[in-house]
Amino acid sequence: MNQRERIIRLFEERILPEDELARLITERDAETDELLYEKARIRQNEVFGKDIYLRGLIEFSNYCRNDCYYCGLRRSNTKADRYHLTKDEILGCAVQGRELGFRTIVLQSGEDLSYSDQDICDIVSSIKNRLPDTAVTLSIGEKTREQYQMYYDAGADRYLLRHESASPEHYAKLHPSDLTFENRKRCLYDLKDIGFQTGAGMMLESPYQTTDDIVKDLLFLAELKPEMIGIGPFISHHDTPFRDMPSGGADLTVFMIGVLRLMLPEALIPATTALGTIDPMGREKGILAGANVIMPNLSPRSVRGKYLLYDGKISTGEEGAESRAKLCERIERIGYHAADSRGDSPLMKQRR
Ligand code: 5AD
Repeated sequence: MNQRERIIRLFEERILPEDELARLITERDAETDELLYEKARIRQNEVFGKDIYLRGLIEFSNYCRNDCYYCGLRRSNTKADRYHLTKDEILGCAVQGRELGFRTIVLQSGEDLSYSDQDICDIVSSIKNRLPDTAVTLSIGEKTREQYQMYYDAGADRYLLRHESASPEHYAKLHPSDLTFENRKRCLYDLKDIGFQTGAGMMLESPYQTTDDIVKDLLFLAELKPEMIGIGPFISHHDTPFRDMPSGGADLTVFMIGVLRLMLPEALIPATTALGTIDPMGREKGILAGANVIMPNLSPRSVRGKYLLYDGKISTGEEGAESRAKLCERIERIGYHAADSRGDSPLMKQRR
């Protein structure tokens, strides 16, 4: 048994070999990667069977007060074609999503301060009233604990906030100084404490990222134990300071999905849009390495091309939520099936 095999077997026994994680990442070889994916699939099958959960993603505003160096929605990008949807438009998308069969609606936006907390709560509670069997996930950025509590009280079930990088030094290379890993972490612990099913995650191969940074991400995730983990490759955007930085590939993301499935077997792990953008078979590869969530786009067609976090983001054709049947077919083709349930975290007791 080689070193990497040994590490994978430790994961299986829920042991985190901290000082050997770097080796696992740097000394990759196809054979042990395949062993990892096999173990990850077994674990996935034990916890989730062959179910893949679908979430309808409504990207309701691309205005953002932040200036993250990697993101096409950053406020300094004057070339971004900005839009935001009204409450009625958002509700319309959600209802359409439910009709298409989605039982989770994800509301995502840049940090757009034109929506007050009351607006957000109204949107959440209207969706919950109209679609009581549907989970609502928010992904609207860094807020105070009191704000998060308001959204929770309005009925939001889950919250996605990627930590982006768990190394404060690396975090500072991706973000201007008004954004800190410390505050991200505070947000994530507040969200968990309030009772949200909470999602964290990072980009892989983002500029200046080292193996040690990725190890820090893994240790942070092991400590936080988020119910959801979203990871994907960094992809450069032509109107950001990182325009000339090379994009990542699918491989490392797929590999890390396998690692995370063994580290946190109950986690909901999406095969992300970025993974599907960098590799047309990326999402299938993600599922076969342990991912169990896909988030098709439910935004109105007229704005779909405008939520450009990075260049080339897939947003038409089969990526659209209305192509659910085609997506289900692709999932079936690799031996899985799209579940009808809400797809809550097995770690969470439903509160209502
Ligand atoms: N490449 C890949 N992912 C990106 N995100 C933002 N910009 C990029 C990019 N250039 C990711 C961030 C964010 C999520 C919504 O999209 O991780 O949390």
